[in-house]
Amino acid sequence: MINFSTILTSWYAQNKRDLPWRNTTDPYKIWLSEIILQQTRVAQGMPYYLKFVEHFPTVHHLANASEEEVLRHWQGLGYYSRGRNLRHSAQYIVHHLNGKFPTTYTDLLKLKGVGSYTAAAIASFAYNEKIAPVDGNVIRVICRFWGIEKDTSESATLKEINQIANQILPVKNVAIHNQAMMEFGALQCIPKNPVCGICPLNKECEAFRKVKANDLPFKSKKIRKRNRYFNYIVIRYKDKVYLKKRGANDIWQGLFEFELLETDIETDTMQLLYQIPFSEFKFLKEVSFKKHILSHQNIFSKFIEIELFEEPKNLRLSTLEEIHQLPKSILVDNYLQKNIFS
Ligand code: ADE
Repeated sequence: MINFSTILTSWYAQNKRDLPWRNTTDPYKIWLSEIILQQTRVAQGMPYYLKFVEHFPTVHHLANASEEEVLRHWQGLGYYSRGRNLRHSAQYIVHHLNGKFPTTYTDLLKLKGVGSYTAAAIASFAYNEKIAPVDGNVIRVICRFWGIEKDTSESATLKEINQIANQILPVKNVAIHNQAMMEFGALQCIPKNPVCGICPLNKECEAFRKVKANDLPFKSKKIRKRNRYFNYIVIRYKDKVYLKKRGANDIWQGLFEFELLETDIETDTMQLLYQIPFSEFKFLKEVSFKKHILSHQNIFSKFIEIELFEEPKNLRLSTLEEIHQLPKSILVDNYLQKNIFS
């Protein structure tokens, strides 16, 4: 049999992209990059990574930052619990581990927000520990090359893929091999219509032999998306606007937004206006946004802007400058940019 790792890493040497987190062995920076790149494409994650490294150059800087400051820098990346967990783990490292980053796969797993993939990525990239991170790219490469046609939403299949990923690790240079696996999945062994004719591993690739590359990996479970209707009431008084912090157990936890009336179906504006707990206000305008698509849900949003005649006693309204500093979802920020700040 060909030596998979030798061919893979020589392909990598010729084809790799120059990505900033590959030029460091600092586990803190590698951790940042891996958390940012979860569920995020490299092109989208790159500016965030550079911004984070600049603003929070060490784990101490991140630990000392407020949650709002961290979320503000995270704004637009989505899955905001990643940002909150980063700060939480930075504080754990500074206060409980004396500022020393964990150095093994097992200890890295103890960090909040670090699962087996991320722990293996950091342990191998920063310390060359012999362990394979298995992400979507690696799953695809292995299913195709080894001709695994089983359902990858089953844990037994993932276990088998994990075993192969670990068996093919080289004795030395595990970091390079693992980066190469991911890069190969991202650039050569791509999800749709890979160009197998020019693939350096095609001689022994099962999917190539059976002309099945486009059908693998196989995954049975399709996620069903939930539709949600966010009816935002934009409460204004002079040059101030009411924003409140979103609570726990849902998307956008800790981000600031307008008063929200969420419904399961599209709801008439008049009906919504009846629910507003102010007796006197002026209706200014209504703006509907097109569907905001998240991985597991579609958000249909409507912004109903009203002006109060008196400053409310029970609500603290924010000035535009204050609002500027607060972390917000892209949806709310878009509304502000187009309708309030302009
Ligand atoms: N996606 C996740 N981790 C990555 C890495 N280290 N390089 C490129 N893409 C990635």
